[in-house]
Amino acid sequence: MKIALFGGTGPTGRYVIEEALRQGYALSVYTRDAGKLSAFEGRVAVVVGDLGNRDAIKACIAGAGAVISALGPNKQRSKEKRPVMHGVRTIMSVMEALGVHRLIQISTASYRDPKDGFDLKSRGLATMFKLLAHNAYDDIKATAALVSRSPLDWTLVRIPFLEDGPATDRVAVGWYGKTRLGMKLSRANLARFLVDQVAAKAFVRAAPGIADHV
Ligand SMILES: NC(=O)c1ccc[n+]([C@@H]2O[C@H](COP(=O)([O-])OP(=O)(O)OC[C@H]3O[C@@H](n4cnc5c(N)ncnc54)[C@H](OP(=O)(O)O)[C@@H]3O)[C@@H](O)[C@H]2O)c1
Repeated sequence: MKIALFGGTGPTGRYVIEEALRQGYALSVYTRDAGKLSAFEGRVAVVVGDLGNRDAIKACIAGAGAVISALGPNKQRSKEKRPVMHGVRTIMSVMEALGVHRLIQISTASYRDPKDGFDLKSRGLATMFKLLAHNAYDDIKATAALVSRSPLDWTLVRIPFLEDGPATDRVAVGWYGKTRLGMKLSRANLARFLVDQVAAKAFVRAAPGIADHV
């Protein structure tokens, strides 16, 4: 099966590519800059375009069985408000047009799920992020709200601070305020969880929080 990957050029995206290849998936990776994927030449298909290019997004998703999005607002300035949300809206519209149902999107505690309990730590983190990086907070929250309302088989994977590190398979998964979730997650553990969700059904139409076991 082929996975279409968006946000594959960030530090997490690279782990996702390695993990998906390790699990035997073919990959079509969408990027604004093919040069950032030169390390994977010959191992993945690369489709170049920005998030406003519907035809290029369609070319990336065509033939895929699932879409993983590690898209998230980074330090590169965008003239547009909520660039990730607008991009994900186009991705979801293309998925519906092509009959591709499975979408796995990275998110954070900025998005509150109805199943969450009260949790001071994750709320504090989201509030701090809102104050320090309001545009990014707003984009992540709006993206998650959009995904959670879609008719697709979506999963929002809500994460804390990321660190480079190996996959330990020691990951806590659950809901803020109900599950003990730490503040750190290794990118390799995140990548494994994301790729595992392609075949797994447990978190379809759900927004689990995940973190490394503490
Ligand atoms: N780092 C953390 O501790 C942390 C914490 C919480 C959540 N997250 C989330 O985790 C995910 C991965 O984070 P990361 O630190 O590994 O990567 P990152 O540096 O945030 O990279 C995000 C990816 O999104 C793409 N992107 C961002 N804005 C875009 C735009 N306007 N148009 C097209 N592509 C765009 C980037 O492409 P380019 O390479 O072309 O810029 C990159 O591939 C993101 O969703 C991030 O928000 C990270």
